Amino acid sequence: MAKNVLVAVFSASGVTKRVGEEIARNCGGDFFEIIPEEVYTSADLNWNNSSSRSSIEMNDPSARPAIAGKVADMADYDTVIIGFPIWWGIAPRIIETFLESYDFSGKTIIPFCTSGGSGVGRSDTALHKNVSSDVNWKKGVQINRPDSKRIRKWLAEVL
Ligand SMILES: Cc1cc2nc3c(=O)[nH]c(=O)nc-3n(C[C@H](O)[C@H](O)[C@H](O)COP(=O)(O)O)c2cc1C
Repeated sequence: MAKNVLVAVFSASGVTKRVGEEIARNCGGDFFEIIPEEVYTSADLNWNNSSSRSSIEMNDPSARPAIAGKVADMADYDTVIIGFPIWWGIAPRIIETFLESYDFSGKTIIPFCTSGGSGVGRSDTALHKNVSSDVNWKKGVQINRPDSKRIRKWLAEVL
């Protein structure tokens, strides 16, 4: 297993956070929650309203919601596991904010998602463009529950 792992997650309603915490526990990694400067309200998350904040952001590929707080020292980590909920088939734009906020050169990035049913789809390949080409970008997986047995098996494969 790799030694210095950071598990960084964005979670609007707690599902991805619970999975990410379980991943961090099982790999001995540090945990960082990607918290928006402006936290999403339930009205913001309403996908039935085309004028809701999430709908507007997801319709705008250049949207980069601001993040409150920073990873203390990204240079400490050689592997970053990034978790996010699927929004409209891809990762929320704030994940792009996160990827564009640090230098990931030479690091391994391992994405995972939670969703209401969609698989990881093109969400991880769509993100790959946000980091430098020397990042070892692993294929993303969907992990919807903090199932430690499944998580340990997956970590043994990817780390
Ligand atoms: C704005 C929005 C869009 C979503 N779009 C999808 C989708 O396209 N496919 C899907 O399976 N789930 C979709 N979901 C459901 C979330 O991916 C799912 O509930 C996720 O586990 C929530 O994680 P969280 O609690 O960490 O925020 C969407 C949720 C929101 C709020």
